[in-house]
Amino acid sequence: MNEDKLFQNIIAHAKEYGFIFQSSEIYDGMQAIYDYGQNGAELKKNIREYWWKAMVQMHENIVGIDSAIFMHPAVWKASGHVDAFNDPLIDNKDSKKRYRADVLLEEYAEKLRQKAIKECAKAAKRFGDSFDEEMYRATNPRVKGYLEEADETMARMARSLEGGNLADVKALIEEKGIADPVSGSKNWTEVRQFNLMFGTQMGSVADGASAVYLRPETAQGIFVNFLNVQKTGRMKIPFGIAQTGKAFRNEIVARQFIFRMREFEQMEMQFFVRPGEEMSFYEKWKEKRMAWHKALGLGEGNYRFHNHDKLAHYANAAADIEFNFPFGFKELEGIHSRTDFDLKAHEQHSGKKLQYFDPELNKSYVPYVVETSIGLDRMFLAILSAAYREETLEDGSQRTVLRIPMALAPVKVAVLPLLKKDGLPEIAREVLRELQLDFNCQYDEKDAIGKRYRRHDAIGTPLCVTVDHQTKEDQTVTLRNRDTMEQSRVSIDRLATMVSKQVSLKSLLQVL
Ligand code: GAP
Repeated sequence: MNEDKLFQNIIAHAKEYGFIFQSSEIYDGMQAIYDYGQNGAELKKNIREYWWKAMVQMHENIVGIDSAIFMHPAVWKASGHVDAFNDPLIDNKDSKKRYRADVLLEEYAEKLRQKAIKECAKAAKRFGDSFDEEMYRATNPRVKGYLEEADETMARMARSLEGGNLADVKALIEEKGIADPVSGSKNWTEVRQFNLMFGTQMGSVADGASAVYLRPETAQGIFVNFLNVQKTGRMKIPFGIAQTGKAFRNEIVARQFIFRMREFEQMEMQFFVRPGEEMSFYEKWKEKRMAWHKALGLGEGNYRFHNHDKLAHYANAAADIEFNFPFGFKELEGIHSRTDFDLKAHEQHSGKKLQYFDPELNKSYVPYVVETSIGLDRMFLAILSAAYREETLEDGSQRTVLRIPMALAPVKVAVLPLLKKDGLPEIAREVLRELQLDFNCQYDEKDAIGKRYRRHDAIGTPLCVTVDHQTKEDQTVTLRNRDTMEQSRVSIDRLATMVSKQVSLKSLLQVL
């Protein structure tokens, strides 16, 4: 199946099974805004919990907060978002479509890199075991040419954007012969900067309401509370503050389902360190975050690091963890060394000292910050797309299954009486009540058992418990595994323990 078709099937499946709906659908929806349905809300909550437990519960020196979405407007002036949180946009005059100029150039560079990868794969086939890819990349003129052109394009774009030379960004697009992906036209407008923050009014407009913004990142709520938390929590550097919450960006080019949304949720952690020690913590957090992802078992080859050529206004080093989405490798999480930019800027704008007295060094300083920042919705999409499978079984029948990591599945156990009679539903409800104390469960007695298994495969339920006539004789039930479809007989007494072993977050957390 081609990637486009696969992605369309995943989107349709997400709607059909109550994971994600278009917002305000009965009014024809709103672009890049989505609602989470009954199964989506559970999966999202479980991902958030996995992150929170891994970051806060498992670290003695990280605490969590929950700051407000609205913040004083000066926060966004200090943080640089009012002046620099822009996307460079370009319009195609013929198709009237609008694009991010940097994305057009990044896609061009990625195509060149893909060409180099293909050339290497062909050569590897030709030369067999004696093939040395590193040497080939460095010496083969065609491969070298592709890679050098990709790097030069990215470097020139970064220079032009940093220097505010938008005319050169347009010139670069024209020199590379980049065409509108929809119409093929090369008739471009000038490149313009567009601020991504949503503004609104607080208070009555008649009384001279003040302009406020919906926060474009959760991080600033952590920075402005740095001293509150440090003092009240008696935190000693190095320490971290984490939070999850909504963020808002007026994304102009909003595509790819929940990958790029206008209202989304972030899970961010700011780690405060001594100046000069940030690079070793930056490397450490890159590794730790990658381990968090890989523990989910979605496939090691689905992740890669991408070091930024173009650094955000606050960073001295930055890398993305990219995931292999159905539309290719794209940013899933960012790890940034944010220096002392934010705390210093808030000191200047608020007139308040935001310093830490380090008893070991016997001096005060503004700490440096290493940030880990992941989009919860993007993580949801990564899991959904890696979990989605259309399988042909041994007997030739088909099933669609979501192989969601068991600890994150929306429903952990389905309790199913084999028949709707002979006292089986009553026993099944007793089993359900016991399991519900620990796990999110569903009771289902409608349709043949095979059909019920398929329904639960489709929402990723890891375990199905079936109550049958034997249950009445020996107090055992069958336990069916979603992935292997194997069934074993288990005594009702041992059920909760056996389920817990397979679906508890513990199994993920203990390998970190
Ligand atoms: N505080 C740093 C920060 O906000 P970012 O790279 O702009 O950095 C961090 O965003 C993460 O938030 C991204 O890696 C992505 O997962 C998520 N994210 C950003 N914009 C998003 C959007 N429009 N829709 C969904 N997720 C988004």
